[in-house]
Amino acid sequence: MRTFDSVSNIRAFVRASVQDGKSIALVPTMGALHEGHMSLMRRARADCDLVIASIFVNPSQFGANEDFDRYPRDLARDSKLAQQAGVDALFTPSVKVIYPEGDRTTVQVGKIAERWEGELRPGHFEGVATVCAKLFQIVNPDRVYFGLKDYQQLKVIEQMSADLFFAHTIVPVATVREPDGLAMSSRNVYLSEEERQSATAVSRALALASQQFDEGERNAPKLQEVINCTLQADPAVTIQYTSIADADTLEPLETVKTKAVALIAVKVGTTRLIDNAVLGGPPSRRGENDRSKG
Ligand code: PAJ
Repeated sequence: MRTFDSVSNIRAFVRASVQDGKSIALVPTMGALHEGHMSLMRRARADCDLVIASIFVNPSQFGANEDFDRYPRDLARDSKLAQQAGVDALFTPSVKVIYPEGDRTTVQVGKIAERWEGELRPGHFEGVATVCAKLFQIVNPDRVYFGLKDYQQLKVIEQMSADLFFAHTIVPVATVREPDGLAMSSRNVYLSEEERQSATAVSRALALASQQFDEGERNAPKLQEVINCTLQADPAVTIQYTSIADADTLEPLETVKTKAVALIAVKVGTTRLIDNAVLGGPPSRRGENDRSKG
């Protein structure tokens, strides 16, 4: 596996592969890799000839009071895991490479980025969209891989890619969970043992809502109530938002007609956790979504 930290070097590497007729996959990450990231990488490996993963803890998507400084960073460990997952090249730029002196342009995606995470984390999706646009321009991939774990992020990137005529295909990948249902996240390491136990309320809430949906419940406030009750049963869990929203627009629903997404954001102690379950997609297991396509 090769590692590049300059734009010109990764571009030259990709260009040589394209000239050889190879298809290019890009898996953007912030490192602190876990099985969730690795499932994106393995999927990319299965689909494409050349797999590039980026590791960049993007300062512009963190709020002033968020965890940018303490976000886990371990390039040696990440390199091993990426290699195991079949990655051909890592792109590990510095902040100066991505945001050089005089950098001014940002990407605002509009309505889909304003609700939920966008409301609680002002500027977050502008940072995500901007860094992804830069990565897409640098690598020019045929396919890009995003986890359903960050459902709104996936929708924001879909909107941006369509609006800006990026030619790549976006491949959504199912959420990878711990055996007890907790969605894998680089931030799970912040949880104490008790908090880790409380965090299971999130996937339990989604599993219950999915079950009720599968049994025919279509009333969104009722489904949301199931989620809220489950979360509120644990005093260590504080709800930031819950919603039964349209799976494409993310607008809250009264009645689920075809497909919806149950969205949850909570705090357990000082750790923020998000998770979701698509309702009305293929059969779900413990809140797991698999809408992977193509
Ligand atoms: P990061 O949190 O490192 O996640 C990188 C990718 O892995 C995202 O597409 C995310 O949805 C996916 N992912 C995370 N946990 C997952 C899980 N349990 N199962 C499946 N996929 C999972 O998301 C970001 O980084 C950044 O915002 C980024 C897109 C890289 C832009 O900076």
